[in-house]
Amino acid sequence: MPDTITIIDDRTGKQVTVPITDGVFPASAVRELDPSLFIYDPAYMQTAACKSAVTYLDGEAGILRYRGYPIEQLAEQSTYLEVAYLLLNGELPTPAQLETWTKDVTHHTFIHENMRKRFVDGFHYDAHPMGMLVSAIAALGTFYDDAKEIKDKDSRDKQILRLIAKMPTLAAMSFRFSVGLPFVYPDNNLSFPANFINMMWRIGDDYEIDPRLERAMDVLFILHADHEQNCGTTAMRVVGSAESDPYTCAAAAASALYGPLHGGANEAVVRMLTEIGSVDNVPAFISSVKGGQGGRLMGFGHRVYKNYDPRATIIKKTAYDVFEVTGKNPLLDIALKLEEAALNDPYFVDRKLYPNVDFYSGLIYQAMGFPVDMFTVLFAIPRTAGWLAHWQELLGDKDQKISRPRQWYAGPDERDYVKIGDR
Ligand code: ACO
Repeated sequence: MPDTITIIDDRTGKQVTVPITDGVFPASAVRELDPSLFIYDPAYMQTAACKSAVTYLDGEAGILRYRGYPIEQLAEQSTYLEVAYLLLNGELPTPAQLETWTKDVTHHTFIHENMRKRFVDGFHYDAHPMGMLVSAIAALGTFYDDAKEIKDKDSRDKQILRLIAKMPTLAAMSFRFSVGLPFVYPDNNLSFPANFINMMWRIGDDYEIDPRLERAMDVLFILHADHEQNCGTTAMRVVGSAESDPYTCAAAAASALYGPLHGGANEAVVRMLTEIGSVDNVPAFISSVKGGQGGRLMGFGHRVYKNYDPRATIIKKTAYDVFEVTGKNPLLDIALKLEEAALNDPYFVDRKLYPNVDFYSGLIYQAMGFPVDMFTVLFAIPRTAGWLAHWQELLGDKDQKISRPRQWYAGPDERDYVKIGDR
């Protein structure tokens, strides 16, 4: 069987044959056929907008790999900082490289005092921490003269380091402000996840972090570090293609993540479970979802996974590790019942709707004491590594230009302006 595809324009009989490589053929074939012909592909369902070597995802088989390494092995054996290095550099670090990278990140965790004192003080007292984080990421770029020097590798590396290192500080700052607590400065003696937990919760001097919670936080960071061309990463690439600075790009990516169909889903899951209230109400809720009155079963379904999301399996296990320390989240029983009911219901089975990464992550975050408003913020911290890996890849990709899709115009034909008094 030839690895080619032939497209025939039945209007003219013209045909173009192009190679299929790894299941992909170039859209330039359509351009060659007729430059005024476009492919209608809302939400880019069938479009590969870039070539990427960062993350491999097979949604049918439930496989996720960062730079070739299975997510299960990374979650079991690696740390978030090592994974961030891997995503950004393509290879696992040597011990010396990891030491330097960890030291560099650790020494960039502080933010400018004006960020904390002036910028954040402008928000309303009950501002959503994710709204604050989105703006804080963009604002951070204004503190660095070299933020826009994206063609200079040294400058790019510095901005990457700053963003990775300062995200937990910005996240914790947003939270502490939203609940009226004083800011806690980074403690550079702590690991990346412990430092974040400390900035979130420390009140007095005797605050101790349970190593099981520190590890759980790190595992959650690893699982959320990248997920190829999702909505947020696509936003990062689209804005990056205009050669905007990485802070502005990351703010755009975080804005996409804020949406309830994307990173906001775990927040929606906890709200949904709270509303269901009891395992007895699960059958009625499932019926209402199927009937279209109950909204969607949040935390279920995925654009790419038509099988178990491998991250959901790891997260479910991590949930039990966390509950050992915190006690069981009372919503867990409702979640387990919902999962069981959905996995045995033809509506969900036929549509290949399985739990996604968000189904259990919210329960862990809630058990750890994070308010639901913080869930997407927790997602944004590690996803910054993925966003930046894609941004870097985009800048080095000779095939890329400014993103500029075409449209299928469906509006009125030309008509004459009617003066206001004649309408
Ligand atoms: N509950 C009930 N029905 C669903 C769900 C769900 N969670 N997800 C999809 N469906 C149904 C749709 O109604 C549709 O049914 P139909 O064919 O009878 O019309 C069918 O399954 C296909 O759904 P689409 O919307 O076409 O699937 P799409 O790939 O566009 O959506 C999405 C993916 C947005 C994730 C969707 O499954 C959803 O809304 N899930 C709930 C929100 C969620 O958990 N989001 C987190 C995603 S993971 C992440 O971003 C980190």
